[in-house]
Amino acid sequence: MDEPVDLDLASLHPAVDDPALTSMNFLNEVAQHWPDAVSLAAGRPCEEFFDDDAPRRWLDRFRRHLVEELGQGPEQARRTLFQYGRTKGVVHQLVARNLAVDEGVHVDPEAVVVTVGCQEAMFLVLRALRADPRDVLLAVAPTYVGLTGAARLLDLPVRPVAGGPTGVDLADLRDQVRRARAEGLRPRACYVMPDFANPSGASVSLEDRRRLLDLAAEEELLLIEDNPYGLFPAGEQGRLPTLKALDTRRRVVYLGSFAKTVLPGARVGYVVADQRVAGRDGAVGLLADQLAKIKSMVTVNTSPLAQAIVGGALLEHDCSLVTANVRQRAAYGRNLRHLLAGLARRFPAPSPVRWNAPAGGFFAVVTVPFPVDDALLRRSAERYGVLWTPMAHFYDDGAPVNALRLSVSAVTPDQIDLGLDRLAALVADELTTSGSPSALVSRDAVR
Ligand SMILES: Cc1ncc(COP(=O)(O)O)c(C=O)c1O
Repeated sequence: MDEPVDLDLASLHPAVDDPALTSMNFLNEVAQHWPDAVSLAAGRPCEEFFDDDAPRRWLDRFRRHLVEELGQGPEQARRTLFQYGRTKGVVHQLVARNLAVDEGVHVDPEAVVVTVGCQEAMFLVLRALRADPRDVLLAVAPTYVGLTGAARLLDLPVRPVAGGPTGVDLADLRDQVRRARAEGLRPRACYVMPDFANPSGASVSLEDRRRLLDLAAEEELLLIEDNPYGLFPAGEQGRLPTLKALDTRRRVVYLGSFAKTVLPGARVGYVVADQRVAGRDGAVGLLADQLAKIKSMVTVNTSPLAQAIVGGALLEHDCSLVTANVRQRAAYGRNLRHLLAGLARRFPAPSPVRWNAPAGGFFAVVTVPFPVDDALLRRSAERYGVLWTPMAHFYDDGAPVNALRLSVSAVTPDQIDLGLDRLAALVADELTTSGSPSALVSRDAVR
């Protein structure tokens, strides 16, 4: 006899059955089922740069920092590393130094909360902002699924703002803010990724960054800037200043991740929340302190051992992750250029296949004249041996999308070639068997 069930899925929080939360599992499951397929899907950092000896060295380096630079005795240093610790973290000063050195962002270390990856930072910020059923979050679409999933868990509706080739459509953002307010809703913030976004690869120009900040000030809207890929421009061009670097009015809550620049397994990220919050008693504190209260009930504190590893890596490079990632930047840039050249060779004009040309980061988006869904991904894995990510996973409306995301971070140029050959075979077969071009669904990721 079958075991009786104890709970109905329908009796749990609806988010557990939401596509935003099942997306990652589905993609992992496909990857595990076809381990020999070339993966142009995984947005993981390249494992060639993992060094078995580095974490121990970094841990020792951070311990020396505690003793020699912060004046902690051996007992206290041991406690800092091994004991429950400060909720806002123990590498906050190093994070602030890193932001000053690499980004020209000068923040009070007290405004930094060190988190369990950037994912926790997102969750804390959204939890704090979602105060009322009228609250909504705006997010540039296509949107990183981790953001949508976190919002779902918090019963915070996400309203898309057109991204387009310029990274964010400012007229649409203003429209969305006003429309939401006209409906009696409270748009609390807009989530943006101005540098080499995941998944679109798009970047926001300097002029648009300034306009976006002006718009946020005029509309009294916070911007949540997520920047995991900013250190990886593909060419020789300089990096643009982050929104936070241009933010003179404290409109920007800045999210950082060390997953791509130090070590994903450390699971360390952070949020800079320097917004001033007025308390009931008139006292003014930092938004970071409110986030810390939430964190104390979610993860208590970020593992100090993991923080120490990241802290040591920062110290080893005088707090510059730009310096620490010279080889990584070169490899990712080479791969992205290789991918774009490979697409051009395999789909010469007048091919109906199109793609964008990101200036950096891990991702590019390919548009094809047929819908791209999970069934096609399975077929691609099984029959063609190549994995990619359906762009539909990054939109919230369940509509079919005729585009896929390719990632170059965890593959070699040879694997990119093999993956593109296989993708070209899939596309050729789909073009001969698929319906009319009326199946086309236009989305603004690569318009
Ligand atoms: C845009 C974006 N934000 C946040 C994250 C999560 O970062 P972390 O691993 O630090 O939680 C990722 C991970 O891929 C990402 O692509």
